[in-house]
Amino acid sequence: MQHFLSVRDLSANTIETILKQAEVIGDTREQNKGYFAANLFFEPSTRTKMSFVVAERKLGLDTLDFHTEKSSMTKGESLYDTVRTFEAIGADLLVIRHANDNWCNELDGNISVPIINAGAGKGEHPTQCMLDLYTIKQEFGAFKGLNVAIAGDIKHSRVARSHVSALKTMGANVYFVDVPGFRDENLDIPYITMDEACVMCDVLMLLRIQHERHGDVAYNTSSYLEKYGLTIERERKMQNHAIIMHPAPVNRNVEIDTRLVECSRSRIFKQMENGVAVRMGIMDYLLAERSVIV
Ligand code: CP
Repeated sequence: MQHFLSVRDLSANTIETILKQAEVIGDTREQNKGYFAANLFFEPSTRTKMSFVVAERKLGLDTLDFHTEKSSMTKGESLYDTVRTFEAIGADLLVIRHANDNWCNELDGNISVPIINAGAGKGEHPTQCMLDLYTIKQEFGAFKGLNVAIAGDIKHSRVARSHVSALKTMGANVYFVDVPGFRDENLDIPYITMDEACVMCDVLMLLRIQHERHGDVAYNTSSYLEKYGLTIERERKMQNHAIIMHPAPVNRNVEIDTRLVECSRSRIFKQMENGVAVRMGIMDYLLAERSVIV
């Protein structure tokens, strides 16, 4: 694997290998000295960008930061030329987030250093998916037969798109919670109600309403929690062992009652914590494959 752009083509074996890598990765600071990772975020991010920076530094990589508004993109430079520039000046690894669903297609095949997709519009968010798989595995040990319900703004969610593919590969049963206007009919996944999801799922994965991807149509969230969100009453119907996940940022009191964000079955901050190890595992895997770092 040259790049890490999508989970669609990953086999169960490759997924397990990367998860194992994340579990056992130790201190590799010395062996990676002198190598550069560039973090090119063309969309806002808190946890993905910062956990990549922490992961890179733990791996001993020097980090190159980038701010679109202070870059030559303000002079009209394209994404491709910006990325080629980082490659030319010696970046050994590129971490990219961009609002375009298909930015990976433009770069795949044209850039020789490893690229990691840190979010592509409504397309995919493969490193979020891997850290979520890691969190689920930590909890249940395996994926086969697990009931995972994904609830929220499916239509605009890159997280949902990555999860459907990877969870199916790993043998989990995936369901979507039906929220009018947020269905994606291109994904062949059964829809259930939030009440059904709470009763039958092992993992309830909540998604943020992606207001920034709704165009000019403002979505009214005033009755969302009561109709489709995780209320205290619904949480009480969940099985004892079931967990709550959310890629965050969380719209408190919209998709989840604020009192449940840090409840005993919530793994929301655990997911963030796991993001560092998993991103270390992914970068280590790619760099080793490329034989930049032996
Ligand atoms: N989960 C996630 O991608 O969060 P950020 O947008 O803060 O990176």
